[in-house]
Amino acid sequence: MRRPLVAGNWKMNGSRASIKLLLDGLKSGVGTVKVAEVAVCAPFIYLPDVQTQLQGTVIAWGGQDLSTEASGAYTGEIAASMLNDFGCKYVIVGHSERRAYHNESDETVARKYAAARAAGLVPILCVGETLDEREQGITEAVVARQLDAVIGLEGAAALADGVLAYEPVWAIGTGKTATPEQAQDVHAFLRARVASHDAAVAEGLRILYGGSMKPGNAAELMAKTDIDGGLIGGAALKAEDFLGICTAANG
Ligand code: 13P
Repeated sequence: MRRPLVAGNWKMNGSRASIKLLLDGLKSGVGTVKVAEVAVCAPFIYLPDVQTQLQGTVIAWGGQDLSTEASGAYTGEIAASMLNDFGCKYVIVGHSERRAYHNESDETVARKYAAARAAGLVPILCVGETLDEREQGITEAVVARQLDAVIGLEGAAALADGVLAYEPVWAIGTGKTATPEQAQDVHAFLRARVASHDAAVAEGLRILYGGSMKPGNAAELMAKTDIDGGLIGGAALKAEDFLGICTAANG
């Protein structure tokens, strides 16, 4: 049985004050979350605050990106070991916003996956197609290429140390959620692709859905066989909404 994971991706939102309020809300409500593992991925600069507030709770935390490099002359970058230093369990790699706005290639994303894994962090590898790619009928080719970059560099067994997230770009922040069937189709495709290398790794791999997931649509998405939780943007910024998604995984 795969334990669902609901992870918040706060992106570039919040302040010390708003994050304190949000985490107070999550801490007081997380008792209703019976099944899912819960995590929040915060902007780097707030990680010390997040650590102080979440230490000793059931909520894990992580970063939204990391450097491909371990240390050295890389101005502005954050290394995996630095995320470890602040108690991070998770780190998002290859989010579509980083691929689009920071020109991260599949190869760079794979190297970030490797850097996270080498440091004992759990990488959350994001894959997903744009609307144009979906309309061209190349969704599977795109997510396969993104996944294969990691398998090519690290081997399929490396996926046992991570989490996969399918985030159709056209569903992110748009209010347009993939239907449960659309999402399930891609999740099943991804799992089968991993299984073609290693069936046991595929069976244990958590594949999250991300893209306008809300309390109102989370249960039907997570009810699908191959959808093992969510990576939540906008709805992760309100304690009530985020907890609503987390409890939807109770079944
Ligand atoms: P939204 O939930 O705001 O659509 O964002 C999804 C996402 O990009 C999470 O990484």
